[in-house]
Amino acid sequence: MKVYLDNAATTAMDDRVIEAMLPFMKSHYGNPSSVHSQGREVRSAIEKARKKVAELLNTTPSEIFFTSGGTEADNTAIVCGIESHGIKHAITSPLEHHAVLHTLEVCEKKGLIKLSILDVNDKGEIDLFQLEELLKANPNSLVSLMHANNEIGNLNDLEKIGTLCKEYEAFFHSDTVQTMGHYTHNLKELPINSLVAGGHKFHGPKGSGFLYVNKDKKIHPFIHGGAQERNMRGGTENVIGIIGITKALELAYEEMESHQQHVGAIKQHFIKSLTEAIPDVQFNGLSAEMDKSLYTVLNVSLPPSEANRGMLLFNLDLEGISASGGSACSSGATVGSHVLRALNHNPERDAVRFSFSRFNTIEEVDYTISKLKELYTIEV
Ligand SMILES: Cc1ncc(COP(=O)(O)O)c(C=O)c1O
Repeated sequence: MKVYLDNAATTAMDDRVIEAMLPFMKSHYGNPSSVHSQGREVRSAIEKARKKVAELLNTTPSEIFFTSGGTEADNTAIVCGIESHGIKHAITSPLEHHAVLHTLEVCEKKGLIKLSILDVNDKGEIDLFQLEELLKANPNSLVSLMHANNEIGNLNDLEKIGTLCKEYEAFFHSDTVQTMGHYTHNLKELPINSLVAGGHKFHGPKGSGFLYVNKDKKIHPFIHGGAQERNMRGGTENVIGIIGITKALELAYEEMESHQQHVGAIKQHFIKSLTEAIPDVQFNGLSAEMDKSLYTVLNVSLPPSEANRGMLLFNLDLEGISASGGSACSSGATVGSHVLRALNHNPERDAVRFSFSRFNTIEEVDYTISKLKELYTIEV
């Protein structure tokens, strides 16, 4: 049996998304910047896509910019947010994705900003009082705090953080890569300056993404070149990616309720069955708390075991089960997870992130739990 439980790393594409993209590979191949009819036809498809994304997020098309994914969108918002608004201080948390952390660290190294990193407790919760103190002491800061953590699933309250940022006139950016397409975002109501998406996290194509920047605090471009994306991102557009991410987002919004129920039930079943099978199991961060974490992510801490130590992912892979240890975005790298380190996770225990999608079934979970049970009873 093959079981794919690494959906926070990437998801399988939906057939309907592929169908929507196909004409733009076969017949609609004009360059959207060309003035002839073949170019204009593709330009019109891009603008239709932008309008659709804006409509789904309850905002205006002029605030949506298509990018190559979440990483580029995070880089753009952070670097250009800082540079465009003379920002000298930024606040983030140690649990952010490297697309945010490394970008802010580079800005600090270049002398653009001083960086403050919030404290987190062993569950990965940030302290909003500490955030407020920092905002009070540092006017005109940039705050970058993610909506949901990609390794442990912890959800941050964007409404509360955004309200604080607004009160102290900070630029608030959020990495929403793991929640886009899984939760609704109502940008008319949410006090936020920028957020991002990566299409491959919700059954769209890899290498597709977008950035939202609120019109009240505009930023300058990150990539210079042609006048594409209304002068905000030079380079011929990834047309098939734009069509794909838009279709994927449209389907995600249409079917969100049933997906939330299906995937949430799978996660709950996983927690219950695993706790019965291996009583000494623990769950990292808030990932076992259904209302405080992504319904797609469960981070499991397994009891110390000589047979599995450092080999668990490999042993699971041999049984046909794909999962990851921490974030898979930089998989291949043997360095441990910075998120689990920040949570003081016991290095004697193996941690695995199981992440689910609407394509998973209860049978797949039962198979995975039975294999985990086998792996953890070998030594007893
Ligand atoms: C929270 C988070 N931010 C950013 C990214 C990077 O997104 P992309 O792969 O679209 O560049 C990822 C990818 O795993 C992620 O999980």
